[in-house]
Amino acid sequence: MLDAARIRALAQEHGTPLYLLDIDQVLERAARLAAFDTLRYAQKAHPGLALLRALASRGYAVDATSGFEIERALAAGFSPDRIELATDVLDRRTLEVAATHGVRANLGSADLIEPYAASSAPRSCTLRLNPGFGSGHNKRVTTGGPHSKHGIWHEELPEALARAERAGLEVTGLHLHIGSGVALEGLAQTIEAMDAALAHAPATLERVSAGGGLAVPYDGGPEFPVDEYASAWLAARERWQERLGRALHLEVEPGRYLVAPAGLLVAEVRACKQTPDWNWVLVDAGFQTLARPLLYGAYHRMELLDATDRPLRPTVVAGPLCESGDVLTQSAEGEPRPVQLAQARPGDLLLIHDAGAYGISMASNYNGFPLPPEVVVQGGEPRLARRRQTFDDLLALEQDLS
Ligand code: LLP
Repeated sequence: MLDAARIRALAQEHGTPLYLLDIDQVLERAARLAAFDTLRYAQKAHPGLALLRALASRGYAVDATSGFEIERALAAGFSPDRIELATDVLDRRTLEVAATHGVRANLGSADLIEPYAASSAPRSCTLRLNPGFGSGHNKRVTTGGPHSKHGIWHEELPEALARAERAGLEVTGLHLHIGSGVALEGLAQTIEAMDAALAHAPATLERVSAGGGLAVPYDGGPEFPVDEYASAWLAARERWQERLGRALHLEVEPGRYLVAPAGLLVAEVRACKQTPDWNWVLVDAGFQTLARPLLYGAYHRMELLDATDRPLRPTVVAGPLCESGDVLTQSAEGEPRPVQLAQARPGDLLLIHDAGAYGISMASNYNGFPLPPEVVVQGGEPRLARRRQTFDDLLALEQDLS
């Protein structure tokens, strides 16, 4: 990433809150997954055009959740055959966009089979499996098991395959994604679930997708062991190829793993105060800028720029919104959770680390705040990739009814 002086200069030039994304680092992380035949980037983690262009030009594939994400991927230079739409709900517009551009779908509900088959979309699809269990850093991002809306329940896979055949659709892929922020421990169970599903593999099957969900160490701990992860999937693929007597293409679909550590959110301290319980530092970024602490009690490492000579204090960091949940250091239960931060003063810059995934992509306009700008670093050089939203942008959708 950039050194302190450059971060300070960028904050001065573009204002705060400001997102930074190191695309060089994203590409370096993507290369670590080269053992898979296809790396399909889950753009929901960070859909910035500059990032998508960098991935498209290097031959990666991309996952889309909506017609709008399909169009974004096309705008970034992905050809339709490198885009896959993964969804449990095919709204009418999304179906139309997939059909118009010839984008294949990964269907997560059996009821999508007939409408998809009746459209002019490709005659092949992937089916997403709910293997009966899930995992994730929070229950809100656990996407498998009896409590999850995602995927086709594993016992219903044979019926879904029969439905696809009746509808004239070739099932060329099987996919599962059990959740986001998944550790290596459950991998054997996941592979076993795919193993069981492959007992029903149609003759048309070409691809197996391991899904995404690879965890990142937000606490600064050891990195997810991608090599071990890839080896386990590759070994399973060998067995499946032998059993089925044909070649199988292996995909992986990460979002967070690629982008989270490559992103930084820069905010400015605007007020410091003390209540009987806490030492507060109030900054100009809140849950309209970074929603993860509020939604999941997510932890992000934080530090004050150029303050290593000051004493550390247990500190609760909060934003500018008029809602008591607007705390950037909180537990999953919504209790303030202090972090050790150097003694702060108004005007200090706060760096919020690992903010590249589900940061700007989940930002909102709550309390009238514009979406923040983003600077990307490519070839070591920072460039503004997204300007701050303006007041006119915010009003543009509304009619003056006076
Ligand atoms: N594939 C599918 C079908 C998904 O639904 C997702 C994430 C991914 C891949 C990528 O998962 P990843 O590798 O990024 O963990 N907003 C939450 C995460 C939501 C994940 C949604 N689906 C957060 O900030 O933690």
